[in-house]
Amino acid sequence: MIILGIESSCDETGVALYDLDKGLLGHRLHSQIQMHERYGGVVPELASRDHIRRVIPLTEELLAATGIDRSQISAVAFTQGPGLSGALLVGAATATGIAHALNIPLIPIHHMEGHLLSPLLDAEKPNFPFVSLLVSGGHTQLLQVDAIGQYTLLGDTVDDAAGEAFDKSAKLMGLSYPGGPAIAKLALEGKPGRYKLPRPKLHSADLDFSFSGLKTAVLTTIKRDVVMPTDYPDLAAEVQAAIVDVLSAKCLKALEQTGFKTLVVAGGVSANLALREKLLGGAKKLGARVFFPPLALCSDNGAMIAFAAALRVQDAMQKGLDWRTTVAQSALAGFDVKPRWAMNQL
Ligand code: KG4
Ligand code: ZN
Repeated sequence: MIILGIESSCDETGVALYDLDKGLLGHRLHSQIQMHERYGGVVPELASRDHIRRVIPLTEELLAATGIDRSQISAVAFTQGPGLSGALLVGAATATGIAHALNIPLIPIHHMEGHLLSPLLDAEKPNFPFVSLLVSGGHTQLLQVDAIGQYTLLGDTVDDAAGEAFDKSAKLMGLSYPGGPAIAKLALEGKPGRYKLPRPKLHSADLDFSFSGLKTAVLTTIKRDVVMPTDYPDLAAEVQAAIVDVLSAKCLKALEQTGFKTLVVAGGVSANLALREKLLGGAKKLGARVFFPPLALCSDNGAMIAFAAALRVQDAMQKGLDWRTTVAQSALAGFDVKPRWAMNQL
């Protein structure tokens, strides 16, 4: 059974084909980063228009490259939310159109569930149950994951997401969008500690995060210490260290609290090498293992959407349920999007 997956929640158009027997057949991605760069962030209307331009040609290119005929596709999965409403609507409308034309079901997928399950795409995959850290531009959440679809929120950000803290701090330093990779690159040339930034909620008993104070602290530091662009590598290293310290401490605390020995990290910020290193070291001391998505699949992509749908279908099949009615819906029923959608509503 082959599933076509479509991702269009923000600034990446992603399409993928996943075969329940053979695994990922292929995926295609178009990033809008260059288009949004000059505005210093994503411009929603431009994002929607670009998704419209890209999604069908990308799908055709993928079908040609994998040698799959559209008649071989059994279901179309799409990101239903959370994300930018206009951008989501493009993916939802496209998926519904294709499903309607091919007379096959539609599978709506939660974007963060796509991220969450993406580390399971690797040959060496984590086993349930595990603790998951979801870190992206819009989310910073710790979840207890007992099985497909069984997610309990352990901790959340009370304000900004970790990716947002990277992006906003980068902007203050005049770095390009997205800020995470720009800060990580600059940090390689600097050292943390010369400037002192706060580690919000580092020692709080809960598993929540707070990153909104960080950008203010960065701004204050630049003004108070008259930080010049030549000093930015040290400041970038400190920003990264502050975010990584907090993320890592809370992950380890979640492992201790649950008693689990497996941590799964996903979302755009999971590409951060300093974070990976710190988590691997910390988990080792607890006798725990850490899993990340393949680097190429940390950011938004269609593969994680097709894959999450495949896991949901497989799960329904294993439970003896009809996936067409439990996981999927008829294209004739129309479609909707959920720009705001909590994972514990799944
Ligand atoms: O998951 P994602 O691609 O999109 C959302 O769903 O938000 O995550 C994007 C976020 C951005 O904030 C970006 O700055 C951050 O991930 N990011 C990174 C790195 N690569 C991407 N943050 C830190 N280090 C990186 N290497
Ligand atoms: Zn994402």
